[in-house]
Amino acid sequence: MRPPEVLETDRLRLRVPTLEDAPEIFLQYAQDPEVTKYLTWRPHQSIETALEFTRHQTEEWQNQEGAVFPWVITLKDDDCLLGMIRLHLEGHRADLGYVLARRHWNRGFATEAVRLLVDWSLAQTDIFRVWAVCDAENAASARVLEKAGMTREGLLRRWLVLPNLGDAPRDHWCYAKVKVGSLLVAEGLDRVEPGSTVGGIDPEDRADQAGEPE
Ligand SMILES: CC(C)(COP(=O)(O)OP(=O)(O)OC[C@H]1O[C@@H](n2cnc3c(N)ncnc32)[C@H](O)[C@@H]1OP(=O)(O)O)[C@@H](O)C(=O)NCCC(=O)NCCS
Repeated sequence: MRPPEVLETDRLRLRVPTLEDAPEIFLQYAQDPEVTKYLTWRPHQSIETALEFTRHQTEEWQNQEGAVFPWVITLKDDDCLLGMIRLHLEGHRADLGYVLARRHWNRGFATEAVRLLVDWSLAQTDIFRVWAVCDAENAASARVLEKAGMTREGLLRRWLVLPNLGDAPRDHWCYAKVKVGSLLVAEGLDRVEPGSTVGGIDPEDRADQAGEPE
């Protein structure tokens, strides 16, 4: 499965990165230690590093067997580059990660982009779970995932090393949104008449227990 190369919201256009984006990626966020603090890579020291990084992102799309799909996040009106978001498809699961230039923080852009990919993912027949992790101290990122409709599932202890914060693996929150219907289908509960129960459990209550708030 391959997602669309261009996706749009009211304000944003997500598009495939090109090598021409490298200088903006470098200037806007990749060299900023505050932006990369909770990321798995160190701030870029030179435009060459940003160029190599961007080349790798473009190659992800060229790989026909690829499962990682990065988009640059741009403003629909003027193609201004705000950041990047990527989706990793793995069977029935999709996970995502994102970054935004500091001067564009707190205007709802990350939430808008994440919500778009969550909606796209769960609209696919074969994807049942979209999920993400964020460092336990990355409150802004946790808030984005909540606002995008995900549920906090738990704390993954010692999940990931963040090189800008030391060598030891750090605790991360795990967030997800799932297709509630999958549980019902798997257990044959989707064929049960409303109001009846199976094994003493009302199917609607089971849907609530699947962790889906909406
Ligand atoms: C995390 C990040 C993508 C958020 O982007 P954004 O466009 O500012 O996010 P939004 O504007 O959609 O939402 C941010 C929310 O976090 C809140 N927030 C911001 N800083 C916060 C903080 N220090 N503590 C608590 N909440 C915070 C904002 O108030 C907002 O919530 P609200 O709408 O309820 O007020 C951005 O900060 C970023 O790029 N950080 C560096 C990279 C990163 O950490 N990526 C995620 C890795 S898991």
